This record gives sequence, C-alpha cells and structure tokens, in this order.
Amino acid sequence: MRDREVKQAVDKKRIVVALSGTGRSLENLLQYQKKHNTFEICGVITSTKKALGAKLAIERGIDLYWENFVHQNKASDELSLWLENKNPALIVLAGFVKIFPTSFKSLEKTQSSYRVINIHPSLLPKFSGKGMYGTRVHKAVLEACEKHSGASVHFVNEVYDEGPLISQIRVPVLKGDRVEALSSRVFEAECKLYPKTIEELLTGKLPQENPRVFSYTTEKLIKKV
Ligand code: GRF
Repeated sequence: MRDREVKQAVDKKRIVVALSGTGRSLENLLQYQKKHNTFEICGVITSTKKALGAKLAIERGIDLYWENFVHQNKASDELSLWLENKNPALIVLAGFVKIFPTSFKSLEKTQSSYRVINIHPSLLPKFSGKGMYGTRVHKAVLEACEKHSGASVHFVNEVYDEGPLISQIRVPVLKGDRVEALSSRVFEAECKLYPKTIEELLTGKLPQENPRVFSYTTEKLIKKV
C-alpha cells in the first residue's frame, strides 16, 4: 500500500467520543476496542470539566478537549481545528447532553462536516426530545405501561434525538420493573449495540435503507431479527 492509502486505512478506524457524564459508554467502548481492535478512540470531547468521563479519558491517556458548547450548531474555531487534526471517521456521542455542532470551520475548506452519531435509551421516536434523558426516559416508559423498551443509534442533526435511525435493540419491560432495573437492562443492551453499530458503520455495512433491529436475550444479547 502507498503511504496515502495506509493513512486512509488507519484514519478510517479513528473515532472521537463526546460526553458530559459518567463515561460508562466510553468505558464500554474502550473495552471493546481492546478486545476487537476494529476502531481506535483518538480523542474525547467533554462539555464539562467535572465529568467523570473526562477523568477517565485522562487516566487512559486519551487526548481531551473541553468547551462548554454555547455556540450551539456552529463549532468554535478551536473545536474545528482540534477535530481537523484528529481527522476521525466518526464522532460518537456517549451521554453528551448539549447540542453537538453540525457546522465546522476548516482550514482547508470553509465548512466541513463529520458523521456524528448518538445513542438514546429508548425505541426512538418514542420517549425523546429535550429533557428526555437518563432515568426520565425509563420512568416515562414504565408510566406508559410499554411492553418493550430499548436503545436506538441515530445520526445527529440540529434537533435532539431526531436524526435518521441506524440501528435499534429491543429490550423487554418485565412485570414489576422499577426504573433502576429497566435502566440497567437497557444499558446492558446498549453496550452491545453501540460498538457493533460503530464497527458496521466504519466497515460500510451500515446504514441500510431501514434501521437494523436487534433483539435482546439474556443468553445471547444480540441476535439479528
Ligand atoms: C446512555 O444511557 C446513553 O443512552 C445516553 O447516555 C447514557 C450514557 O451516559 N445517551 P453516561 O455514560 O452514563 O454519562
């Protein structure tokens, strides 16, 4: 392979993770990276310095970028430059609670865009939108007496949780479920769905015309239906 081709092959696997909270998803992606070596987290973006996820990134020696994301849709010059240097094939939101910019300033072009994806702990479009995150989602699912919940991976656009769907995993709501139990069952499923979806996006298997749907079983978490 020529140098340029080698560089492209390597760049293809590089991803940036953006977070605001505990970093549970980051930890899961790091474990998957170690085991499968199909992508490399080359940087972490945090919207708050206090995030435990930011601490985790530092501990693992991952380059960390912080800003408070007041510019909404337009990325700051600093973020645009940082991303341009990282050159990720994908930006992966993992508990990022601000609006992620959709417009970037580049040194080479006036504007460039990145593929940005997010995971949401419900079967979108249900239980989504501003303020619908964390335990609030699971509480609403239980109040609505849903038989199933789950998680959805989607492309990010200017509106919370509204971009095109890529994949989903269905999780049963069990009799007598409480928020904590449902929340950890959904997160367990997320931990399988997110890295798998990232891997398939990076290898060009996704997106397909319709979102890919996985079902959840306790013995074998992911089974294509
Ligand atoms: C996950 O439940 C994911 O669906 C949502 O944020 C949660 C992870 O955030 N987008 P954190 O790592 O617990 O902060």
